[in-house]
Amino acid sequence: MGAQIVLKNVWKIFEKPKKFTALQDVSLEINPGEFVLILGPTGSGKTTLLNVMAGIERSSRGTVIIENRNLADLSEETLAEFRRRNFGIVFQFFNLLPHLTALENVMVPLLVEKELSIKRIRQKAIKLLEELGLAEKLYHYPRELSGGEQQRVAIARAIISDPKIIIGDEPIAHLDEESARIVLDIFRRLNREGRTIIIATTHEALVRMLQDALTKVVRLRNGRIANIRVLRRR
Ligand SMILES: Nc1ncnc2c1ncn2[C@@H]1O[C@H](COP(=O)(O)OP(=O)(O)OP(=O)(O)O)[C@@H](O)[C@H]1O
Ligand SMILES: [Mg+2]
Repeated sequence: MGAQIVLKNVWKIFEKPKKFTALQDVSLEINPGEFVLILGPTGSGKTTLLNVMAGIERSSRGTVIIENRNLADLSEETLAEFRRRNFGIVFQFFNLLPHLTALENVMVPLLVEKELSIKRIRQKAIKLLEELGLAEKLYHYPRELSGGEQQRVAIARAIISDPKIIIGDEPIAHLDEESARIVLDIFRRLNREGRTIIIATTHEALVRMLQDALTKVVRLRNGRIANIRVLRRR
């Protein structure tokens, strides 16, 4: 037992188009129910760190253990399934499917799991989108939505399957103050319900905006952990 996420001496070296070390000797532990902020300037390796953590990218060196499973031991197929089951990811650039409506985009993760009827999945997706203030936009395609609206659709898609770990890569970058508050409150609520939340951002202001909820602030610089501040224990 113990930590839910363990990174031990993790390196990520991109070979193409030019050799570049994006993560250097990163070690980090995250317990179930933590709310972690990963802060760092653009290019410091935040997205790379999240990708390695969620098994979207394999580390070049070091160990990544999630829920007591060493990701290196999982085949590509098992890893994809493992990721679907454990992680909800709000991507920095949303990655919404352009030919599906907002509602359909949110339904996708549960359609893949094939455990609920389409009717139930639809109800669940509509409820989530309503909570996120998008009741009027269910049948809009991504290109017919503002950046902030696309962001909220991406959040709904990330949380619809009740993942244990929710990752947000710059989750409020495209939002005005009011929508940002709504989104941060959603992350807070998900965290209070017991989910682990990991948010990456360049914005120092989030430390203050989330100070009531954060357990750790991790500062990245040039692919290295510069500092880990523990605010409360879980
Ligand atoms: N697939 C890739 N191939 C080569 N280099 C990459 C790749 N992905 C990222 N990098 C490089 O790794 C570095 C870190 O990128 P990363 O996207 O992790 O930064 P970031 O901290 O998320 O930045 P931002 O705040 O702009 O999103 C960058 O210099 C980037 O060019
Ligand atoms: Mg990034």
